[in-house]
Amino acid sequence: MSFNDNLKVWMNGRIVEWKNATIHVASHVIHYGSAVFEGARCYKTPKGSAFFRLDAHLRRLYDSARIYRMDYGLDRALLTQAVVETVQANGLDACYIRPLIYRGYHTLGVNPIPCPVEAAILVWEWGAYLGDDALEQGVDVRVSSWNRAAQNTFPAMAKSTANYANAALIKMEAVVDGYSEGIALNPDGLVSEGSGQNLFVVRDDIIYTPPMSASVLPGITRDSVMTLARDLGYQVREQDLPREMLYLADEVFFVGTAAEVTPIRSIDKIQVGAGRRGPISRAIQQAFFVFINGVLPDRYGWLQPVEIPAAPREPAGARGARS
Ligand SMILES: Cc1ncc(COP(=O)(O)O)c(C=O)c1O
Repeated sequence: MSFNDNLKVWMNGRIVEWKNATIHVASHVIHYGSAVFEGARCYKTPKGSAFFRLDAHLRRLYDSARIYRMDYGLDRALLTQAVVETVQANGLDACYIRPLIYRGYHTLGVNPIPCPVEAAILVWEWGAYLGDDALEQGVDVRVSSWNRAAQNTFPAMAKSTANYANAALIKMEAVVDGYSEGIALNPDGLVSEGSGQNLFVVRDDIIYTPPMSASVLPGITRDSVMTLARDLGYQVREQDLPREMLYLADEVFFVGTAAEVTPIRSIDKIQVGAGRRGPISRAIQQAFFVFINGVLPDRYGWLQPVEIPAAPREPAGARGARS
């Protein structure tokens, strides 16, 4: 994935050129990881473009900001409108959407409170995160030697940039060792999640996923997959999973906005099930892709249509700006 520098970025109420979307190097966020963010997607469907659960993503963004005492001072409906304007200004009929709320430039010290709370929205085209093949063939992963942070250290329910220092350690270790991803355990040695994905395990036709108390991000895809799986008639259980369940599973798969639904074919070089995408992973994947492609009626209200103009639309001035 590389960026197209013709893209436009929303920064504090104004649409600016990609090259001008800059902040000062003394901004608090650069030194202390003081930002919260989201990753959502807009899909191209036969009926036009549609955001997938944008409301849930922006709710989580505001939840994350609340945990970190960051009040951006803009109503969620106006930030939603800002996302619409950013996508329209870029004329992308399918894209990844990255809203970010961060502590800007004022003073430098651990205390972020004196620093202004600012926001930006980036969008870009982003295909399958773990590769197109991965969706069909599955990926090879390892259990990370790095744990997820304990409860009451870095809150897992906040999607904070600071959490991704841990995620980067997990990801780098996996990649350097020749794996696509790492699965982190929580400090009790129980299964938590991937560096940027939630995880599901299937054994004897029952689908399991670690609970919120296992230091997992409350994933929007995780929630969607639980709903789709139950609708398909599967039993889904949120419960603690010991590491060895990963080796005894019939199927294991990652889910997330970037990874969508990606099967795992081996863990620590132990083959998962038959070593390829299993039938339940395939059924869930199909249900998910049929849904996001808008093939079936939107029975959950998860798709929000958005009109993408043929030529990128000039933004409506400072709409969505705080002042
Ligand atoms: C650590 C982590 N877990 C899980 C997920 C999946 O969450 P979602 O489905 O909301 O994208 C992500 C992606 O944002 C993540 O970064």
